Order: sequence, then C-alpha cells, then structure tokens
Amino acid sequence: MDNPTGRNEYTESQFEHGRRLFARECRFILGVADLGQLPPADLPEVAFAGRSNVGKSSLLNALTGRKTLARTSNTPGRTRQLNFFSLDERLILVDLPGYGYARVSKTEVAAWTRTLKAYLRGRAPLRQVCLLVDSRHGIKPVDREMMDLLDEAAVIYLVVLTKIDKLGHDELDARCAALADELKSRPAAHPEIAVTSAEKRLGIADLRVRLAVLAIP
Ligand code: GTP
Ligand code: MG
Repeated sequence: MDNPTGRNEYTESQFEHGRRLFARECRFILGVADLGQLPPADLPEVAFAGRSNVGKSSLLNALTGRKTLARTSNTPGRTRQLNFFSLDERLILVDLPGYGYARVSKTEVAAWTRTLKAYLRGRAPLRQVCLLVDSRHGIKPVDREMMDLLDEAAVIYLVVLTKIDKLGHDELDARCAALADELKSRPAAHPEIAVTSAEKRLGIADLRVRLAVLAIP
C-alpha cells in the first residue's frame, strides 16, 4: 500500500510520469554553507526543510531510489550545508540542514539557520518547500516559525509527515486531521498533507507525482 490515507487521486499515467522522472540520473551539484556560493538559478527548485533528524535526507534517498545520495544519520545535525542535486537536469532538489536541535554548537546552528532562512526567503527559482514533520511529534514551535517565514515570503509549502511506520492508523488519522485544521489559516500552505515513510516506502510514489509537475518538461 503506497497511500496509507486511502486517497487515490492520481492516474496510472501520472504515477508513471513521476516514477520515470525520479528514476533518471540524480547528480550532486554542490554543498554550500553560505549564500555567496549558490548554483545558477536556471532550473526550478524544491527544497526539503524540517527539524533536525526528521528524515529529510532519508526522504530524498527514497524519492530518488538511492541509498546514499544524501547522507543520513542517527545524530541530529548530519546535514550541515545546503546540498543541491540535479534530477535529470530538469529539477533541483535541495537537502537543507535541519533547524532546531542539533549536537553542534549554538553558534554553528545559528549560522545555518540564518543561511537557511535567507535562502528560503530570497531564492528566485524555489517553487516549493517540502516541510517535513515527524508524524510522532507533530508541529513544534520552530516549525511554526518556519511556516510564518514561508507564509510571509509567499513560498508555497507542502507539509510532509515522515516516519509514519512508527504510528498506528488511528494516531495517523488524528494527526492528519489536526494538521489539516491548522493549515487552513496558513496562506502559503498546500491544503493537503503528504504522509510518508522512507523506511517502508509509503507515500513515495504520490510525492513523486506532486513534485514531477514542478520539473521542466
Ligand atoms: P539532519 O540532516 O540531521 O537534519 O537530519 P535529517 O532530517 O536529514 O534526517 P535523516 O534522514 O538523517 O534521518 C534521521 C534518522 O531518522 C535516521 O536514523 C533515519 O534512519 C531515521 N528515519 C528516516 N526516515 C525514517 C522513516 O521513514 N522511518 C523510520 N522509522 N525512521 C526513519
Ligand atoms: Mg539530513
């Protein structure tokens, strides 16, 4: 079962389109620690944001079907740069450093957070942010801060629940209902929620379809 909420909104040909795009070559372009070094802004971008350890790098690996494209870790704070990947030279995927808790110095976290926020506010080709939220924990105050920023900057974001393999059906339904309610007052939030497990490959085909529409043809 790839769609645990039971919704089945996509046609076979849409799934095929998403599957094909994400089966193409995905190439690491570069990792940047400050905004002076960003790659050219000539392709649409989608960025994966969320608290440390929420599963951003794992989701990127699951989407692209690679085990080690983006480095993952049990230690929050693994991703310390903005990492840019080119998917078939048609869509840029950006693995962002996590915000919130990380086992590194406060100064270092403050520096990433500044860079991250400046990127999210000012990056012209950024079409959408996937805002990852751990399904066990739900939205935290730092996530709301990020949502405020995206709402103010009018950057569209899709909330993606992660690690749903850790949750029962009822808990997941309750989490989705509460979240959908909260998102109603968020102008830049996509009204729907993506539910995923990188580990069990749940919701991955759906998310590919959603992201494939952002790629250049
Ligand atoms: P930072 O780069 O530190 O911000 O973390 P991240 O958001 O990139 O998280 P990462 O992908 O490194 O994963 C963090 C931990 O969560 C790792 O131990 C993963 O194995 C685990 N994890 C990621 N996705 C899933 C999932 O779908 N299910 C379960 N059970 N664990 C997951
Ligand atoms: Mg990471």
